[in-house]
Amino acid sequence: MQLTRKGLWEGVIRGYREFLPRVNDESIVTLKEGNTPLIEAVNLKDILGDIRLLLKYEGVNPTGSFKDRGMTMAVSGAKQEGSQAVICASTGNTSASAAAYAAKASMKAFVLVPEGAIAKGKLSQAMMHGAMVLEVKGSFDEALAIVIEITANYPVTMVNSLNPLRIEGQKTAAFEVCEHLGHAPTYHFIPVGNAGNITAYWKGYKEYRSKGITSNLPKMMGFQAEGAAPIVRGEPVTDPRTVASAIRIGNPASWKGALEARDESEGTIDMVSDEEILEAYGLLSSREGVFCEPASAASLAGVIKKKKEDVLSDGDTVVCTLTGHGLKDPDIAIETAREPVKVAADIDKIVEVMGF
Ligand code: F0G
Repeated sequence: MQLTRKGLWEGVIRGYREFLPRVNDESIVTLKEGNTPLIEAVNLKDILGDIRLLLKYEGVNPTGSFKDRGMTMAVSGAKQEGSQAVICASTGNTSASAAAYAAKASMKAFVLVPEGAIAKGKLSQAMMHGAMVLEVKGSFDEALAIVIEITANYPVTMVNSLNPLRIEGQKTAAFEVCEHLGHAPTYHFIPVGNAGNITAYWKGYKEYRSKGITSNLPKMMGFQAEGAAPIVRGEPVTDPRTVASAIRIGNPASWKGALEARDESEGTIDMVSDEEILEAYGLLSSREGVFCEPASAASLAGVIKKKKEDVLSDGDTVVCTLTGHGLKDPDIAIETAREPVKVAADIDKIVEVMGF
């Protein structure tokens, strides 16, 4: 088994065939997801000292989030079974991804989203890809419960991460991290919402080690938003609140998987405030040139918190998953960043404002 894969990238199913459940070639639905960069952060030393921080930038996937890795598997699996429609509940990204892959597969997509609570970029994607978008007057958790019941009774395939193929596809991100580094990191920081992704990464890391491709495992460090932190608090949250709409979830479907990842890896599931999330969000874009959405920045906010608590030491290799692209949520970006300067179309005024 080679640690480096070069050449034309054909998406995660073809790239990692031997590690994934079998999909017939004619059933593969791909937008060439995966193979995302691991970017070394170089301008945060004043905050993080000499830890080695790497950003797994999942925002560059075809629909702008990590969901595509799982969706290629879930939609291909649905196609292989002869299904003609997929359904999901979503805080936005899953709906965008499901809609795109269903379009590619010429299948119908039904997406249930909490009304008025998903970011504009994501809503626009689901609409443009031709999904039937159902805005539910309720929470993500309520929408997911309805989706579970519908799939039990009607001919439509669930593509939420309760579908095990989603987890299979998403574990490939851990493979890529190991290939880039030549080993697993010391710590892996990741935002936690419905908890599928932390479950998937842990599965991926364990598989590479059990096959002898790597010899170490990371500590899994999951971060929820303070107002939506059911796992940290040990009970469901009925009215989850956070600026990071992607992880506004009160009763995660993969709760058990997250606890296993935490306990088996001797890691942690902790929480960060909205202020900490927005600070990390600003640092990533303004200092590192990496624009992610607010929920993604919960991972860096977690790193900063653990550095302050002296959990992290110089020399540790720390990977943060940046789960979605910043363009997904332009409203929060514009609300939080420095305002543009309005100026007359006059060169003297403009150079004066520029400070020359
Ligand atoms: N970051 C982003 C940008 C997300 O969209 C999500 C989940 C997460 C983190 C958390 O991942 O659920 O596997 O723990 N978004 C889902 C959705 C719930 O519907 O798009 P998780």
